[in-house]
Amino acid sequence: MRLRSLLFLFSALALLAQTPQPLRRGLVVSQERLASEAGAQVLREGGSAVDAAVATAFALAVVHPAAGNLGGGGFLLSRPTSGQASFIDFRETAPAVAHPRLWLKADGTYDEAKHHDSLASVGVPGTVAGLREAWKREGRLPWARLVSPAIRLAREGFVLTENQAASLAEQLPAFARHAPTLAQFSRKGAPLRAGDRLVQRDLVRTLVRLSKDWTDFYRGETARLVVRDMKANGGLITAADLRAYRPVRREPLRGTYRGYELLAAPPPSSGGQVLIEALNILEGYDLKATGPGSPAAVHLTAEALRRAFADRAQFIGDPGFNPDIPMARLLSKTYAAELRATIRPDRASASDPARFSWEPDRPHTTHLSVLDRDGNAVSLTYTLEESYGLRRIVPGAGFLLNNELGDFNAGPGLTDATGRIGTAPNLAQPGKRPLSSMCPVILVKDGAVFMVSGSPGGRTIPATVLNTVLNVVDFGMGVRAAVDAPRFHHQWLPDRIQVEASIPAATQEALKNLGHALKGVPKQGCAQVILVRAGQAEGAADTKRWPDSGVAVE
Ligand code: DON
Repeated sequence: MRLRSLLFLFSALALLAQTPQPLRRGLVVSQERLASEAGAQVLREGGSAVDAAVATAFALAVVHPAAGNLGGGGFLLSRPTSGQASFIDFRETAPAVAHPRLWLKADGTYDEAKHHDSLASVGVPGTVAGLREAWKREGRLPWARLVSPAIRLAREGFVLTENQAASLAEQLPAFARHAPTLAQFSRKGAPLRAGDRLVQRDLVRTLVRLSKDWTDFYRGETARLVVRDMKANGGLITAADLRAYRPVRREPLRGTYRGYELLAAPPPSSGGQVLIEALNILEGYDLKATGPGSPAAVHLTAEALRRAFADRAQFIGDPGFNPDIPMARLLSKTYAAELRATIRPDRASASDPARFSWEPDRPHTTHLSVLDRDGNAVSLTYTLEESYGLRRIVPGAGFLLNNELGDFNAGPGLTDATGRIGTAPNLAQPGKRPLSSMCPVILVKDGAVFMVSGSPGGRTIPATVLNTVLNVVDFGMGVRAAVDAPRFHHQWLPDRIQVEASIPAATQEALKNLGHALKGVPKQGCAQVILVRAGQAEGAADTKRWPDSGVAVE
């Protein structure tokens, strides 16, 4: 009997050690303080992490129009403390008339403007349906409550920061081509200034409709406004396309790195594949001994990324159209060992431009990380593709359209030295989702959330997220240092390492001596990160790269 009670006590204690302890507070980290605050208020009222993410995402659609959105799409990774981790794919889809040669002119040459800067580049938006899908299963507060901060921010307006005013002013020439955008984001064509209040009346009306009935976006007045604009201006999206839109629940990709479990984005994003494959390769090195920002650390990481990106080009696309992606092999430790064996410590490898090459990144996307006091985590990245998407506001509806179909490959066989690729997995087809690099990630240790991370930055996204993970796991940095530290990126082609200027000059010199070409950039990505240590959650917003970013605490 005594033995049995002892055993019982022992197993109860073991269970307790496994059970994540409540955190002292929840927090929201996003690219705009006002949006983080909207989410934190939801947590204070007893909302779940998903509730807070939904409120933050709607608020970002108002205060961060460059990437926060109703008219775009993205991915939401959720890890509730009890229950299964889930991944909601609310990526945009191609309309029914799409086909692989959609971006080619009659004479077969590539039509870049049509692909990236026309109403034909707009994908069927997924954001509203995706947020609703997340809320349906893991929301606690009423839907309308979660839309209400966005409505207030659009109706009462908010005071523009220097950064916001500069961002809008920079876009003025592009906005000028779209009357409703110019009307919403300028003072009769003159730039808005820091200190001005931005009120968005059409957006208020749309948000009010969505707060009452989210299906309005896909079959009501909002859908009607979108289709009217499409018909009048050469767009491809029909009422049937909008009605047919569905978010998809997918299994998150899973990996491990030095004892941490990773939950990451599956196709149609390449974010998880690139991140996990690169981490698997790096696990075979003692990065810690090389030191952060050292030539060896940057070289080995760049070589790992080069290989993961080559696989991305060869294999990854919408899984609904690519049933044979060899994901188990790509993510296996044995495959990583094979790739590692091809990396020379003393020499850069060469990417083969005869096979693929890449276009430069275009901004903008945005990420938010949420952790509530129960330990439920949400990692959400969503986007309009370019900064302000197509830069076209739907007349009367007050929100910007994406130009996400620009993420499809240019056309069959169209692989050339300028960076276009034409491989099959990511050619446009009806209903298909374009290949993404977005990389919302959650790291788990001993059954509890350890880290939440993600970033914008196009193809640099998996590298930025990788940088944050290595900074914490290998280099032992705290969350602030891990976000601030210099970043770098390699994407196979073009064959060069992109480095932030703050990478030490001596490291840059040493990398050149190893045979790497370097491209300096002022900044890479905008990571919003949460780290849990000793039962205490700490957030770091990427204020160095976007000053309005902010952490809000429950
Ligand atoms: O889905 C993707 O990977 C791209 N459309 C994201 C674009 C992006 O991150 C630009 N941000 N800076």
